[in-house]
Amino acid sequence: MSSPSTKPVMLSGIKPTGEIHLGNYFGAMRQLVELAKSGKYQSFIMVADYHALNFIQNAKEMRELSLDLAAAYMAVGLTPQSGSGEDRVVLFKQSDVPAHTELTWIFDTLTTMPYLMRAHAFKDAEAKNHEISVGTFNYPMLMSADILLYDTQLVPVGQDQKQHIEYARDTAEKFNRVFGQEVFTLPKEHIMEEVAIVPGIDGQKMSKSYGNTIPLFASREVITERVMSIVTDSSGERPENVYAIHKLIKSEAELAPIYEEHRGKYKALKEALVEDLDAFIAPLRTTYIELKDSPEKITAALERGAEQAREVTSKKMAEVKKAIGVA
Ligand code: TYM
Repeated sequence: MSSPSTKPVMLSGIKPTGEIHLGNYFGAMRQLVELAKSGKYQSFIMVADYHALNFIQNAKEMRELSLDLAAAYMAVGLTPQSGSGEDRVVLFKQSDVPAHTELTWIFDTLTTMPYLMRAHAFKDAEAKNHEISVGTFNYPMLMSADILLYDTQLVPVGQDQKQHIEYARDTAEKFNRVFGQEVFTLPKEHIMEEVAIVPGIDGQKMSKSYGNTIPLFASREVITERVMSIVTDSSGERPENVYAIHKLIKSEAELAPIYEEHRGKYKALKEALVEDLDAFIAPLRTTYIELKDSPEKITAALERGAEQAREVTSKKMAEVKKAIGVA
């Protein structure tokens, strides 16, 4: 930021681990766009590539997925380029801002193993007998650093990230208590109840790892293929898994006559959903494809964002180093 602002800070991030889907959009990105456009916040939007390194260990893939995610953020209306606009955001890659990993180490020294063992993601991996990397175990501390470095007050996310924000809040409190200074601001999550857990085509939480997604920039063919494979059951009044996705893009009042007219006709209802999804996605898809055709625009935005983020974090790190006595 060129001039220090007194506006509260909002920050969020996504891991570049695969195609952005409707769960990411309705669960988190749409709120980010709305809050950024309100002009009430300083907004920091991050490509969490070091978090993704726990999953993506291939340089070409990492590069492509990171660029795709930055393009996705820009395509949905987070506009890093509108210099002085009220709604401008700082869009950056986590790995471009070394303070994130530096502060993680400091937090590691304050954090206990039993505390991190309570993390849902760790417990899930353990229950599945997965080999757990130190990076996965430590994930909440890197995320705490992401959030706390910017004096973030608001973190718009989906329900699955709630515990991570609690970790950040606890870590801020502990640091402030141990070093006897209010260095860190306590952040709060911003979760929209009705889209806290966006369902996928099988009715479970939409997730890259469950293979049940509808990509946010899907072609008409992919939309058709995914919608036609939505799992339906004939026990109720309407196909609930179809309706749940439809409700993301149309109000219940708009949907009522459609579901009345096609009562019991699941194919017709799925066709209506394909039409509505395609109409919703088409303009986003066009912008996304255009952006992907000019990767230099994306990398320029990321470079500018990284400079702005480093400006903020170097000030914060100076404060932190003073508080812990290494400077
Ligand atoms: P990630 O990459 O798994 O997901 C990105 C965002 O999308 C939301 N989301 C959903 N919301 C509702 N319904 C769903 N089905 C659904 N699927 C995904 C997630 O809740 C999230 O908001 N650890 C984070 C990334 C991160 C971060 C941060 C976030 C790193 N540093 C700092 C906020 C602040 C993650 O893995 O999100």
